[in-house]
Amino acid sequence: MQKKHAILAAVMSIGALVAGQSYAAPDWSKVQPRKVTLFYPGQASYEWVMNVNDHSSATDMTKKRRTCAKCHDSDATEIGDKVVKGEAVGSSKSIIEPKPVAGKAGSVPATVQIAHDGSKIYFRYEWASPKAVSEPKMDSKNEVKLTMMFDGGGTVEDAEINGCWGTCHNDLRSMKSPKDDKKTKYVKDGNVATGKFMDLMQWRKGEKAVDGYVDTERHMDGGKSLIKADGKKSGNKWVVTFERDLAGKGTGDHNIVAGKSYNFGFAVHENFAGARFHYVSLGYQFGLDKDNKEVKSYLNVQKQ
Ligand code: HEC
Repeated sequence: MQKKHAILAAVMSIGALVAGQSYAAPDWSKVQPRKVTLFYPGQASYEWVMNVNDHSSATDMTKKRRTCAKCHDSDATEIGDKVVKGEAVGSSKSIIEPKPVAGKAGSVPATVQIAHDGSKIYFRYEWASPKAVSEPKMDSKNEVKLTMMFDGGGTVEDAEINGCWGTCHNDLRSMKSPKDDKKTKYVKDGNVATGKFMDLMQWRKGEKAVDGYVDTERHMDGGKSLIKADGKKSGNKWVVTFERDLAGKGTGDHNIVAGKSYNFGFAVHENFAGARFHYVSLGYQFGLDKDNKEVKSYLNVQKQ
């Protein structure tokens, strides 16, 4: 019986190859998982985290190159809990969630895995959905979204210390001093021609996946490297995977090559949330087939 199954599986995989299909997703059981806490950031913008009066560690970041993850990888749950409840945070005792939602979770435990096969890179994100509470449906089409952003291997200034905070500013919609209700994330002096931009991929429950980027504004199209985005829920656990060409093929697609360290972060919108009302990761790094054991926020993406 077992033998029959093995033969059948072999025939099927040959069939897939003959049909010219891509290889199946990597064997995730062989890929080192990295636990990451996603937390609720409120209005903790780039301007807030880099302002020493609000956040006493701003100078440790600029002068000693300390990363968010270095200090907060282990206390992100506590940060999210305080922020979501509208408590005073930072050295300025700021309220960075002016309208707290009763009972809303402050953080979400997640796991990231990344692998490549020489021509494609695969990302797998798993997280446990927090208990849904009654709150406004900002994105009525998409109950859940998973978004990731990455730079071109040091092409966005300070992304290695700030992660995605370089794109999150006070003048965005839903932030502290919104310019208008449409303004979305941007990289200051971003430039798609010089590589100073964040590549963006988003899986959405209700609508088609997005392959975009963020330069001086957010573009929800332009990319051609994303091949497939999938999302499945079992129990209260979500698993979202991306399959992407290593090569940058469209506008706003970074080339992913060996020898570089790419700064990335990801976020989950749950319960029809939009704008800043997501759970975010601190900044992490990945590189292909290269160890970097001294940096705890680094993931070695191995070939399968
Ligand atoms: C050198 C260590 C260090 C680094 C690097 C650092 N922080 Fe902090 N952070 C702190 C400390 C200490 C506090 C407590 C309040 C204070 O002193 O500002 C804090 C407070 C916060 C708070 C408010 C929650 C609270 O408990 O007060 C947020 C949000 C936050 N940090 C986010 C970030 C982000 C995002 C980054 C990276 C862009 C970052 N931090 C980098 C040390 C650090």
